[in-house]
Amino acid sequence: DLEKLKIELASSIREFPDFPKKGILFRDIMPIFQKPQLVTNLCVAIAAHAVAEIPVPVDAVAGLEARGFLFGPQIAAILNVPFIPIRKQGKLPGKTVRATYVKEYGEDVVEVQSDALKPGAKVMIVDDLLATGGTMKAAIEVIQKAGGDVAEAFCIIELAALKGRDVLLDTVPVFTLLSF
Ligand code: PRP
Ligand code: ADE
Repeated sequence: DLEKLKIELASSIREFPDFPKKGILFRDIMPIFQKPQLVTNLCVAIAAHAVAEIPVPVDAVAGLEARGFLFGPQIAAILNVPFIPIRKQGKLPGKTVRATYVKEYGEDVVEVQSDALKPGAKVMIVDDLLATGGTMKAAIEVIQKAGGDVAEAFCIIELAALKGRDVLLDTVPVFTLLSF
């Protein structure tokens, strides 16, 4: 069940003080991938959440480079919908839309291909971690610029003290599995 999954998930996340900069407590999710059954159970549970708790059928799952790419395509495949990559600037060919943002430890630009979505498509955005919310806010902006309608912003982990949720709540529904 979901509570057991959350406990196993929490015990699989490692903490690294002062990475990538002094003062940042980095939460490393990569040990999750040492447990393939946990990865499968996690992606199945996220897809089940999407079906049960997002009030509209999800037409596409969008994932953020790089760690959103670890989960997003698996969730999209379970839901049997397309996966849309949101990438850092300069990586996607053809016409793109972009948004600039500030995150917990730096500044960046994200892009999505202009023709990635059908107009009005209901999109679930997936990432590993919500910190300041800067990254997710930019992701919402590019999906909207590409003609999509964000049905939910989903992250596995939320760093509650950074209040990323507050940055997003007025714009779209936010859902996270674990809060630290
Ligand atoms: C991390 C994380 C989120 C973002 C959250 O990605 O995967 O995408 O930071 O931070 P925020 O809420 O303060 O914006 P990062 O930019 O480090 O890139 P990576 O996934 O390529 O490692
Ligand atoms: N992305 C932004 N802040 C982070 C943190 N503290 N740990 C892991 N990824 C992050």
